[in-house]
Amino acid sequence: MKSPNPEPRTPNSVASGNVVWHDHHVTKAERAQIKQQKPCILWFTGLSGSGKSTIANAVEAALLEQKKHTYLLDGDNIRMGLNKGLTFSDEDRIENIRRIGEVSKLFVDAGLIVLTAFISPFQKDRDMVRQLVEEGEFIEVFVDTPLEVCEQRDPKGLYKKARKGEIPNFTGIDSPYEAPDTPEIHIKNDKISIEDAVLQVINYLKKKNYLDA
Ligand code: ADX
Repeated sequence: MKSPNPEPRTPNSVASGNVVWHDHHVTKAERAQIKQQKPCILWFTGLSGSGKSTIANAVEAALLEQKKHTYLLDGDNIRMGLNKGLTFSDEDRIENIRRIGEVSKLFVDAGLIVLTAFISPFQKDRDMVRQLVEEGEFIEVFVDTPLEVCEQRDPKGLYKKARKGEIPNFTGIDSPYEAPDTPEIHIKNDKISIEDAVLQVINYLKKKNYLDA
């Protein structure tokens, strides 16, 4: 389905050749240095109801306790603002992730540890975001919760509605989800507690020195 969003999707101003990149005086390295951390994107992906937002929120709180500088971008919230007007068609989901990728890249440039919680069902789009940033700055976190479990939890009552045919293109029901093949972090969220899931992420960040200057 075509999005009702009236804005042009392609940056025509760039295509005109009259827009020129301006280098900033202050660098990403300098912004990161005063924050005593290595900026990166923790990209949480998984089905609706898999626990992405819950874990991402808890990881952000744990990082804050360690005085790390973060920002969390969350699917439902972003779709109420920046991405208002995008539907759940394949085309709009791709645009959703492209915009989030660009915003995340800016926040990485600001020196932040960015956490994103989007279904992001297509591997190609997640790989596209990985390509936007530098080597090591994209950390794919697969929140792996079987569909049956998500459907049983159904925190927002959306699976019930989708099964009744009231929500078209619902991920896992009549729209696909491509699980990551080789995520940096694989959380089997039907088997562990939130606390252990948080530890899994924090330990990864510590081991790879993201929490050092
Ligand atoms: S994505 O596929 O484009 O990455 P996103 O993470 O932004 O999805 O939004 C998913 C959230 O929107 C879900 O958690 C759910 O609350 C809500 N939602 C509403 N309609 C759908 C749908 N058709 N498929 C999946 N999620 C939906």
